[in-house]
Amino acid sequence: MALFNFLTQEIAIDLGTANTLIIHNDKVVVDQPSIVAIDRRTDKVIAVGTRAMQMHEKTHENIKTVRPLKDGVIADFRAAESMIREMIAMIYGEKKPFFPPRYKMVICIPSGITEVEKRAVKDSAEQAGGQDVKMIHEPMAAAIGIGIDVEEPNGNMIIDIGGGTTEIAVIALSGIVCDQSIRVAGDEFTLDIVDYMRRQHNMLIGERTAEKIKIHVGSALTDIDSPPDDYPVNGRDLMTGIPKQIIVSYSEIAHAIDKSISKIEEAILKALETTPPELAADIFKTGLYLTGGGALLRGLDKRIGQKTKLPVHVAEDPLRAVVRGTGIALKNMDRFTFLMDD
Ligand SMILES: Nc1ncnc2c1ncn2[C@@H]1O[C@H](COP(=O)(O)OP(=O)(O)O)[C@@H](O)[C@H]1O
Ligand SMILES: [Mg+2]
Repeated sequence: MALFNFLTQEIAIDLGTANTLIIHNDKVVVDQPSIVAIDRRTDKVIAVGTRAMQMHEKTHENIKTVRPLKDGVIADFRAAESMIREMIAMIYGEKKPFFPPRYKMVICIPSGITEVEKRAVKDSAEQAGGQDVKMIHEPMAAAIGIGIDVEEPNGNMIIDIGGGTTEIAVIALSGIVCDQSIRVAGDEFTLDIVDYMRRQHNMLIGERTAEKIKIHVGSALTDIDSPPDDYPVNGRDLMTGIPKQIIVSYSEIAHAIDKSISKIEEAILKALETTPPELAADIFKTGLYLTGGGALLRGLDKRIGQKTKLPVHVAEDPLRAVVRGTGIALKNMDRFTFLMDD
C-alpha cells in the first residue's frame, strides 16, 4: 500500500460564500473568490475564482457570473459542483499530475446548510477525486483555527462574519452548544453602500466599487482613533448619466452600514441570552472572538465591546482562521468526533 501513498493527497477546503480556500501540505495553495462565469449559450463554465470575478458586472448577454453559495446556502448546485472541482484542480496549477490523485479531505460548510445541500457538497467533492470526505461546521473550524481547545469543558463564543452570513456559536466539549445564523454580513454592508451612494449622492456604483469603499473607508463607528483618508469613488450620475467622482469619508460609510451592524449586535445579544449559565460564566471571562472578513471592519470590535461590555478579540488573519482550523481537523480526522460523514 505504501507504494501508492503518493496517490493519496490530503486537503482541507473552506467553502465560503465569498472566498474558497484550500490547504495542501500545510500551505494555503488556493485562495479565490467563490464565483464562476458561465457561457449562457453552451451552459459551460468558462472561468472560476479570480478570473470569473474580473468578469463580474462587466458581462454581456452571453456570459453570466454566479456565486454558487450566496446567502450561506447553495444557490446553484451545478455551479457549486464546477467550482469545487476547478478549485481542487488549481492546487497543481499548470503542473497537472500524471495520475489524478485521490483525496482525503475535510470541507468546511456554512452551518445553515440543509441535508440536501450537504449531500451535494459531498457528492461534488467525491466527483472531484475525494475518497474519504468529512465535513465540519464553520464556527467549529473557526474556533480551532483561532487556537481554542474545543474539546475542553469551557464555553467560547465565536462570531464569524463572512460574505453571506454571520454565524454566532458557543462551543464547548467538541460540540456547538447554541448558535445563531443570520443573513447579514459583508455582502449586506456592500449593498448598503450601493444604496447609500444612490440616495445620498445620486450616484450609481457597482458591487465591486462598493466593496472597495468598504475596505478602504468602511467603519462600524462614526468616530474612530486612527481614521482612514477620504476615498474617491467613481460612478455614474443618476440625473445626467455621465460618469462622475465623489469623495467619501469613513463616518459617512459608518452611517450607511449602521443598521446592518445593529442586526449583528442583536443576534449576538440573542445568542448570549440563550447560552447556558455555566458557559456564560466562561464567556464573561474569555470574551468574544471575531473571525471572517467582516472582523476586519474598522471599529467593529470596539462597537461590539461597548454593546456587550465583554472583551472582544479579533482573530489573527481572520480571513484564514476557518481554513486553518479545517486543516487542523484534517490532521485529527480520527480523533475529532464532530466531523460529519454526511
Ligand atoms: N478589510 C475589510 N474590511 C471589511 N470587510 C472586509 C475586509 N476584507 C474582506 N472583507 C469582507 O469579508 C467578506 C468575506 O469574508 P470571508 O470570511 O472570506 O467570507 P466567507 O467565509 O463567507 O467566504 C466579504 O464580504 C468582504 O467584503
Ligand atoms: Mg467563512
